[in-house]
Amino acid sequence: MDGNGRWAQQRQLPRVAGHRAGVEAVRRVLECAGALGIKYLTLYAFSTENWKRPQAEVDALMRLLVEKLTEELPDLVVRGVHLRILGNMEDLPCDVQDALRTALAQTAHNSRLYVNIALNYGGRRELVDACQKLARQVQRGELEPGQIDEEHVERELYTASLPDPDLLIRPGGEYRVSNFLLWQIAYAELYMTPTLWPDFGEQDLIAAVAAFQKRDRRFGGLKGRS
Ligand code: FPP
Repeated sequence: MDGNGRWAQQRQLPRVAGHRAGVEAVRRVLECAGALGIKYLTLYAFSTENWKRPQAEVDALMRLLVEKLTEELPDLVVRGVHLRILGNMEDLPCDVQDALRTALAQTAHNSRLYVNIALNYGGRRELVDACQKLARQVQRGELEPGQIDEEHVERELYTASLPDPDLLIRPGGEYRVSNFLLWQIAYAELYMTPTLWPDFGEQDLIAAVAAFQKRDRRFGGLKGRS
């Protein structure tokens, strides 16, 4: 969800105003995703690298998350949203962890729209975590190194049991994946748009999905052959 800072700067507002406007974009996208029949949506809210930002901005982002999650939770429950966090929750402030646990518990039985929030998430860290879990299984004699295949790795990722993303949308005009779902996006279609995240809305999501529908996905094979 890139471009919040620039959106605020263009309006001579503090960066946190951009993040607040970004939350409104999250609301629009969730509503539209549900209407389009999208089943899984992953939002990159805070990366393992975002801790490098000024402490005041990190604190403001964490406060915003708790505030909005608490405020929006009843609506998320009614809309059938099933929340999941991708990332290391234990490094987050206690009040954030509490708000997240409440939200996870209250949405756990929903299945209309699966919303994953990547929070304190890093694709490399996820892969390192998976390697460590597999190494421990080998150490305990539960697994032979030669048995480790893609399914074993996938089972140890934060996204275990979720399908790989079909479409990766990056707003904000940058052409990079920034440590996002590195394993899972192997065959995702990439859609980059200059629209800053706080300006992102229904029409932008529809445009991204329409562009996706025109792509020829071969998954390494040849067109028209399976
Ligand atoms: C990147 O824009 C944005 C972030 C690091 C924060 C995104 C978080 C939210 C929109 C809040 C999410 C809340 C919920 C409830 C999921 P940037 O600050 O890097 O923008 P810039 O590149 O213009 O500086």
